[in-house]
Amino acid sequence: MADTPRIACSALQSKIMTAAEAAELIPAGATVGMSGFTGAGYPKAVPGALAERIKKLNESGQTGFRINVWTGASTAPELDGELAKVDGINMRLPFQTDPICREKINNGEMDYIDYHLSEVSQYAWSGFLGKMNIAVIEATAIREDGSLVPSSSIGNNKTWIEQADHIIIEVNHKQPAKLEGMHDVYYGTALPPHRKPIMITKPADRIGEKYLACPIEKVIAVVETNAADRNSPFKPTDEVSKRIADHIINFLKDEIEIGRLPPEMLPIQSGVGNIPNAVLEGLNDGPFKNLTSFTEVIQDGMLKMLKSGTLAVASATSFSLSPEGIKEFEDNIDLYREKIILRQQDLSNHPELIRRLGVIAMNGLLEADIYGNVNSTHVMGTRMMNGIGGSGDFARNGYLSIFVSPATAKGGDISAIVPMVSHVDHTEHDVKVIVTEHGLADLRGLSPRKRAMEIINKCADPAYRPALMSYFERACASGRGMHTPHLLGEALSWHQRYEETGKML
Ligand code: COA
Repeated sequence: MADTPRIACSALQSKIMTAAEAAELIPAGATVGMSGFTGAGYPKAVPGALAERIKKLNESGQTGFRINVWTGASTAPELDGELAKVDGINMRLPFQTDPICREKINNGEMDYIDYHLSEVSQYAWSGFLGKMNIAVIEATAIREDGSLVPSSSIGNNKTWIEQADHIIIEVNHKQPAKLEGMHDVYYGTALPPHRKPIMITKPADRIGEKYLACPIEKVIAVVETNAADRNSPFKPTDEVSKRIADHIINFLKDEIEIGRLPPEMLPIQSGVGNIPNAVLEGLNDGPFKNLTSFTEVIQDGMLKMLKSGTLAVASATSFSLSPEGIKEFEDNIDLYREKIILRQQDLSNHPELIRRLGVIAMNGLLEADIYGNVNSTHVMGTRMMNGIGGSGDFARNGYLSIFVSPATAKGGDISAIVPMVSHVDHTEHDVKVIVTEHGLADLRGLSPRKRAMEIINKCADPAYRPALMSYFERACASGRGMHTPHLLGEALSWHQRYEETGKML
């Protein structure tokens, strides 16, 4: 494995070229499916070379060269950032975290479609999104028969390779050769009415192939790179994250004690970020053993849990590691490759599998309302933050759906608990538990008015509790609908006030 050449397919040797040459093969207006998921496994050279080409065209007055960019999820400055900087993206989907993209999207200069990550591949297959012209896919290696050893994420690569007319492969020598064998690429998916059950009954199950099939005749370029994935360091766990993590860990311990969860719990899904990472750290320090994870992303906390034995196995579609995490992974890859399975994102996030396995979903929120509706994407109802990502896949179908956030944002000027959310990503029907540093609201079995009391009393920042309670009591006294009482003229006034004064209250 480690001694095999990275490009073993002789028919593709003649396609080796520079990134600039490969970028010339992408026409204006093309829809390009790029690899990449949470900053892992994205093409490192061709997008930058294309951006350079667009920049020169723009400088010579030939403006308007733009492409549509579809990915697995977020990528990195070398892809989203470079292309957005030269105004090279017409439409982007399905998830991004890049500051320049975000600005363009919110200025109305770039179209963005925010889809559930599990659904993108079926939308592409069903033709809902139009034709894909070119796929640009990072691989660890190309095998003799042209199949690819996938890289540090799989994301939508299987679908992009199948759907695109032409393929550009970036072979990244920096990706460890020992990634080979960690992937499980499933070729049994189909569109209705031909779908069959997906026979995964445990996170550890392997039902597919180790390699991505890749038709040699579609490959128009092979580019060699030697560059690390984006890897942002985690902030050290702060007091707020630690308190949120403690609430969740105590809750899970109680659920086990009551008998509502088995001692080894159920598979965990954890969103990316500092709070989820703190929860993982907390689980690692707790009494838990042989946990499993069925999630999107392997982050540092999971490596620690796999090493200590707290976590027996982790199934995901991608890594998202800090520089120390990458070093730890590469230094101990023989241990980790036995315990980690990387799948395509239409399986890692598949509703059928999440429901069957009974996943415990933990994701972040921007704001929740007193009845348990959650906004994860739209700042003040209009400005896109990142996107819904996989949070909806897991929240709706999980066994327990937990949402976490600090109780306030922007130095206390924004309350994360509001009378009515300004945009809904996760409805009151899907949200089971909300946690802030102040406490945990267990919404199971509660009707809307009881949920309001629980959320205000347990989760809201004390500075906002009186105003929330006043809103709730006045809504209840209004004599209008008593199932979910609201004062419609006032429900979004906190957001309006923030827009006008920079403070919600
Ligand atoms: N209004 C305005 N800004 C808010 C806000 C609110 N109600 N709540 C948080 N913010 C700001 C914070 O101030 C912070 O801003 P900064 O980057 O300028 O400091 C930023 O949003 C991130 O907030 P933070 O509290 O650090 O949380 P986070 O990094 O965990 O992100 C989400 C929270 C909701 C943005 C993030 O979880 C997300 O994108 N979720 C959707 C996708 C998802 O869940 N993916 C995982 C599923 S697999």
